[in-house]
Amino acid sequence: MTKKLLTMSSSTSPKKIRIGVMGCASVAHRYMIPAILDTQDLELVAIASRTLLKAKEYTDRFGGDAVEGYENLLNRQDIDAVYVPLPTGLHEQWILLALQRGKHVFVEKSLAMNVTSAQRMLDSAMEKRLVLMEDFMYRYHSQHRFVFEQLRQGVIGELRTLRTYFAFPPLDPHNFRYNKELGGGAILDAAAYTVNASRWFLGNDLEVGFASLFYDRKKEVCISGSAQLYSPVTGLSAFISFGFDNYYQCNYELWGNRGIIHCDRSFTPPPDFTPTVRIGLPEGMQEYTLPADNHFKKILKEFVDCIRQRQYAKHHEDLLSQSRLLTALQEKGRIQYIQ
Ligand SMILES: NC(=O)c1ccc[n+]([C@@H]2O[C@H](COP(=O)([O-])OP(=O)(O)OC[C@H]3O[C@@H](n4cnc5c(N)ncnc54)[C@H](OP(=O)(O)O)[C@@H]3O)[C@@H](O)[C@H]2O)c1
Repeated sequence: MTKKLLTMSSSTSPKKIRIGVMGCASVAHRYMIPAILDTQDLELVAIASRTLLKAKEYTDRFGGDAVEGYENLLNRQDIDAVYVPLPTGLHEQWILLALQRGKHVFVEKSLAMNVTSAQRMLDSAMEKRLVLMEDFMYRYHSQHRFVFEQLRQGVIGELRTLRTYFAFPPLDPHNFRYNKELGGGAILDAAAYTVNASRWFLGNDLEVGFASLFYDRKKEVCISGSAQLYSPVTGLSAFISFGFDNYYQCNYELWGNRGIIHCDRSFTPPPDFTPTVRIGLPEGMQEYTLPADNHFKKILKEFVDCIRQRQYAKHHEDLLSQSRLLTALQEKGRIQYIQ
């Protein structure tokens, strides 16, 4: 079935990739399903939920067939790929089954509970020659291209360090992020962005220097924390802070010997958001208002391209190194209980 997908139709345009959604998640209705509908190369075929009523609510709004149960979605022959916005604790079970059923997988972050689990899923994707990609959509936003260009031109001189924060105030107590078995906790959630950005700017060889993690004693999940990551090769380091019990922050700062770049709303800008990047230099602060961008659509385009070009392993090294560092953060963090 996958091979059929890759063949061209009698006209010049390739066939659409038929996609199903596994779970009526908030992120799905707010961002990813609208982006799927707005992507010419994708066709939304069905939306599955644990309950038919919920699936129908979503299909009434977005179209496609309502399906009760995720396995029924995976059993369909008219679906080439699935979007999986389930809690991380459910990923391995459903992703392995999706791959077994011959579906490409686009999964919400974080991919895996730990690096061993990530490796199992990536091995299976490779064996089946299917794409498995994680939704770190922020990397596709043009504001970061602007930042990389400033670095390349040496605007802030030699890069010395990175600081990045992603945190928000407490969530609804029933949110899966407070459930250990479902992969709750700030490490696989808010921290995942800060770890991802640190690796993006400083390299994949980062290790955990120190990490201080605040845990909820009853729920046994990490509520907030901070860490220093460093590269044993370049000596460069990052300072990251993250959590679910904080004043809202979503930014990074790159500090060089000549200046500093501050990117606000770095990880979650909605498609209509106009970002601002500030660059501090000895001669003064410059502020750049950049165009809005839809990183959700752009990452979906990358997913489609990987499928069409059969680039199954293109993102695997990145996914593994992300999972490796998150696992190290979990294992090396010094835990302090706050409740
Ligand atoms: N890339 C991004 O920008 C971004 C932003 C937010 C979240 N995320 C990620 O997206 C995923 C979903 O986050 P969300 O905030 O959208 O969560 P959410 O609204 O709670 O959705 C999670 C969905 O998982 C399904 N589910 C299956 N078993 C479940 C269980 N035992 N408990 C709770 N839900 C269960 C539910 O769908 P049914 O009831 O329909 O079966 C539920 O709607 C997470 O992995 C999160 O990290 C990514």
